[in-house]
Amino acid sequence: MTDFKTLVQTRRSHRKFSEKPLDGEDVRLILRAGLMAPTSKSTRAWHFIVVEDKTDLEKLSDAKDLGGTFIKNAPLAIVVTASPYESDCWIEDCSIAAISMQYQAEELGIGSCWAQMDKRGLSDGTSANEVIRGILDIPEEQHILCVLAFGFATDERKPQNEDRLKWENVHIGKF
Ligand SMILES: Cc1cc2nc3c(=O)[nH]c(=O)nc-3n(C[C@H](O)[C@H](O)[C@H](O)COP(=O)(O)O)c2cc1C
Repeated sequence: MTDFKTLVQTRRSHRKFSEKPLDGEDVRLILRAGLMAPTSKSTRAWHFIVVEDKTDLEKLSDAKDLGGTFIKNAPLAIVVTASPYESDCWIEDCSIAAISMQYQAEELGIGSCWAQMDKRGLSDGTSANEVIRGILDIPEEQHILCVLAFGFATDERKPQNEDRLKWENVHIGKF
């Protein structure tokens, strides 16, 4: 098992994946990490939609104009949604669950990348949320924060460079 100190350094965003499918138990562990994530007032209002269908992955890739094309390269994606009516901290809750799933994947040797969907869309004004709701039959009240792509990475990424950390953004005592 990778210790957390190493995990936070080696986790990088991966956008190219082999065709090898993910093991079912690994997928369960990734979802488990999301389901164990802390939430405001313990609402646990998020939903995670697992997508493996090639056609749906391609459609998700096209849900916004920029920055989502890598989704179709992945064997699996998890769409992270929640209802703002159930939690006023839905963005925070979904974000924490998403990164928890990404770290769990990394620990299992599975690469991932976040594709932002909230506040993103197509040049004709259609929101990515509208597009994705249509693809996956997601109810209207659910807001889609992001799509996480998972797979065995084929793009080599270097670990975080210890010398480039923005320690100047850390303030001790006062700003
Ligand atoms: C809130 C958020 C939104 C992101 N949206 C996208 C995205 O839409 N497309 C993409 O390719 N990467 C996206 N990323 C990944 C970032 O580009 C990536 O984390 C950043 O460049 C740092 O690289 P690293 O993850 O390899 O350390 C997003 C990451 C976060 C945290």
